[in-house]
Amino acid sequence: MALPDWSTIQALKPASLKQLFDQDPARLATLSLDVAGIHFDWSKTHLTSDAVQAFARLAADMGLSARRDALFAGEAINVTEGRAAEHTAERGEGSPESVARARGFHARMRALIDAIEAEALGPVRHILHIGIGGSALGPELLVDALGRDADRYDVAVVSNVDGAALEEALDRFDPQATLIAIASKTFTTTETLLNAESALAWLSGNGVEDPYGRVVALTAAPDKAVEWGVDETRVLPFAESVGGRYSLWSSIGFPAALALGWEAFEEMLEGAAEMDRHFRLTPLDRNAPVLAAFADLYYAQARGCETRATFAYDERLRLLPSYLQQLEMESNGKRVTADGQPVSWPTAPITWGGVGTDAQHAVFQLLHQGTRLVPVEFVGVIEPGHAQGDLHHRQLLLNMFAQGAALMAGKEHQDLARAYPGDRPSSTLLLSDLDPRTLGALLAFYEQRTFVNAVLLGLNPFDQFGVELGKEMARAAEQGGDFDASTSDLIQRAFG
Ligand code: F6P
Repeated sequence: MALPDWSTIQALKPASLKQLFDQDPARLATLSLDVAGIHFDWSKTHLTSDAVQAFARLAADMGLSARRDALFAGEAINVTEGRAAEHTAERGEGSPESVARARGFHARMRALIDAIEAEALGPVRHILHIGIGGSALGPELLVDALGRDADRYDVAVVSNVDGAALEEALDRFDPQATLIAIASKTFTTTETLLNAESALAWLSGNGVEDPYGRVVALTAAPDKAVEWGVDETRVLPFAESVGGRYSLWSSIGFPAALALGWEAFEEMLEGAAEMDRHFRLTPLDRNAPVLAAFADLYYAQARGCETRATFAYDERLRLLPSYLQQLEMESNGKRVTADGQPVSWPTAPITWGGVGTDAQHAVFQLLHQGTRLVPVEFVGVIEPGHAQGDLHHRQLLLNMFAQGAALMAGKEHQDLARAYPGDRPSSTLLLSDLDPRTLGALLAFYEQRTFVNAVLLGLNPFDQFGVELGKEMARAAEQGGDFDASTSDLIQRAFG
């Protein structure tokens, strides 16, 4: 397998951002584009035409086009686990067989949703979605972003095994009107199964006669769900080849499809498909996920940036940073190439972020004047998500734009403590509206950007062996296994 050669990228010596704008009047046009209701602007990064060309050559060396085709063709590109990565088939972009299979599963989900709406399972007002990682972060983001005005169902997503998380949801739900959705690709995740058992005990402890009759399973392991006690008619399967952190398009998106309505769910899939087609068919230098990954890699490989921050200037997208953390860090936080060779270059930077304008009053000090260079991504929405008047939204968006300008421009001052070095990069994603279609496109953009990063880094983004050791050790701790002195002491202090 080809290994990435970063020497040309590292040899690039772009001028300062201010100079780059001065030198090239077409810079904004070259480094911005519009796809699927999203305006992308990388002009305030140090990407130049030379850099884009150098990255395009690296992409050719690393076989990006072939890997992209293999992804959409449903080839077994998850080489370490010997299977395809077929999340795009969920939105209609994949091999005919996998698209047909995904449509079959979606039809089954829709039929169950129709039955729930017809009260075939009794009255349902509350949906308790239990899952963790990819089985929680995606659906929770969808419901939080798009479901604020949806009053048909009250949805709670419970992931943490800390009983306080479950209790908070149970305290506000009516057991007689609660439906439990157990979301687990493997149906073996200990946190999810314990939360599910406790939720079931809560139903029966509160007089629900047939608690299992109120349970739906969302899983790629339907046999395990049936064995656990879920009736086969309420198991909503999805394909094993859909990875956990890429699964919100499948039956894992059930609470969103129910709470937002089937039409909205389909629009979200269509928006994602539009981004997929853009990714598949557009030349690299006008391709949004590709250009975003080029900027990511420039800062990681040539400028030594160890983190990258995303700030959502929209309360509806407050869960975006957590969602991105799993997507990017679980996919590309690796230290060996797809064929098992150790890497000698940094892989995924640490993804972090927050919500604007809150973050301006907490962490932006470091972005403006700290010693570390952090590429920043701003995400905003032109249409406000509230009826509080224009002043709020105007101030919100103007703050976002001003932060990007300030990071770039900096400010001189005799007193160094009051000086801003400037030349600090940011990119901006401006959504026309936060509707299901645009949100679908945004999330597909992030998935494909993660994929491009992986290909150029030489990684397989679709496995996650790094999470297993901790799970093994937790099981060993349950069984009283031997640990180091510190860990044994902590166990002893907590449990005697
Ligand atoms: O532990 C990591 C992980 O396997 C994630 O990849 C996954 O999204 C999460 O756990 C939940 O897994 P499952 O959906 O199988 O319960």
